[in-house]
Amino acid sequence: MFDLKKVKKDFPIFDRLINGKRIVYLDSTASTLKPRKVISALNDYYTRYSVNIFRGLYTLSEEATAEYEKARQKIARFIGCGNPKEVIFVRNATEGVNLVAQAWGEINIGKGEEIVSTVMEHHANIVPWQELVKKKGAVLKFVDFDNEGYLDLNDLEKKINRKTKLFAVTYMSNVLGTINPVSRIIKTVRRINPQAKILIDAAQAVPHLKVDVDNLGCDFLVFSGHKMLGPTGIGVVWGKYELLDGMFPYQFGGDMIKEVYLDKTVYKEPPHKFEAGTPHIAGAIGLGAAVDYLFELGMDNVRLHEIKLTEYGLRSLKGIDGLTVYGPQKAQERGGVLAFNLKKVHPHDAAQVLNEDNVCIRSGHHCAMPVHTKLHIPASCRASLYIYNTEEDIDQLVLSLQKAVKIFT
Ligand SMILES: Cc1ncc(COP(=O)(O)O)c(C=O)c1O
Repeated sequence: MFDLKKVKKDFPIFDRLINGKRIVYLDSTASTLKPRKVISALNDYYTRYSVNIFRGLYTLSEEATAEYEKARQKIARFIGCGNPKEVIFVRNATEGVNLVAQAWGEINIGKGEEIVSTVMEHHANIVPWQELVKKKGAVLKFVDFDNEGYLDLNDLEKKINRKTKLFAVTYMSNVLGTINPVSRIIKTVRRINPQAKILIDAAQAVPHLKVDVDNLGCDFLVFSGHKMLGPTGIGVVWGKYELLDGMFPYQFGGDMIKEVYLDKTVYKEPPHKFEAGTPHIAGAIGLGAAVDYLFELGMDNVRLHEIKLTEYGLRSLKGIDGLTVYGPQKAQERGGVLAFNLKKVHPHDAAQVLNEDNVCIRSGHHCAMPVHTKLHIPASCRASLYIYNTEEDIDQLVLSLQKAVKIFT
């Protein structure tokens, strides 16, 4: 059951006051806060069995290995994947996209072939593809979004063709909040070109929605632990096993090998061939605990809470004179990412005034410059919601924004 008061108590950071005022945290799209369960799991690893995995034939190492692999199983189950060998630990979503660009792209993209992404992507799902097409003499295209912040599905039909090798799309925009109809999109891409591979950037989806890779039918999916209550420095690439098996390793060294001779090396099977060197053991275990926490809350409850709060947020922000909220205006069709601008206040000025009241929001381009270019704005404010946010947080946001308006007009 979703008990907001209890959820809030699970996050010790809220015990803290800054300048005597409570913290109103509205930047979970950048990074979420951490519940006690995750902090304890990290503490437990560092206190009780902080040793390396795989290599030690002693109890502590066996415990660490078991916990690391247990985390992989939990994460697989959380994203609806039947085979934990399809879950690769990386540092974050960004590294996930880079892994696919290099380990898959290097051997599968040729001259004149096409990669398609969208204008609403985070830079993490643009720049690795730019570099890959530059190297390969391939072509990079972008599907546009419309004035309401929805992906233009007619444009998708135009951009995908028989030359498309990969379509890389975000599940949820980190600026517009748009939740893309990924099942429908995948079907469209498959209909036009059944050979094209599909990568879903789920950095904003896995923390907020029930994601089921086996049902979705994509080929790769990436996300970050720190955006879903887990530690920083740990993220995941999920890929279909037969694809992972056919890919070349991404980094080379210890732990990813079966046999090494001076003139050749035999690599392990996935996922280990993609996890060279000592991984972020504590991070994986912490992410496992985060997944346990979200599982107990229930992702349907998480989504329901966010819809209610997003509705309240949209309604409240619209009450402020001269304020524009970007993206879809229906809470059902978007996540709790509220990017907006005030007519007479620069986003950085607004964020600074809000900070005086401990209201933590983002200002800038949020690593999505093409979205801002398309909207003809240099920057925006972004307030983002998660499981621990309340209507009182939004009320405080509105009060502090009104204060900013007063100061700057
Ligand atoms: C949609 C999306 N993709 C990718 C990323 C990159 O995440 P990270 O910095 O954890 O690699 C972000 C981060 O904000 C994001 O919102």
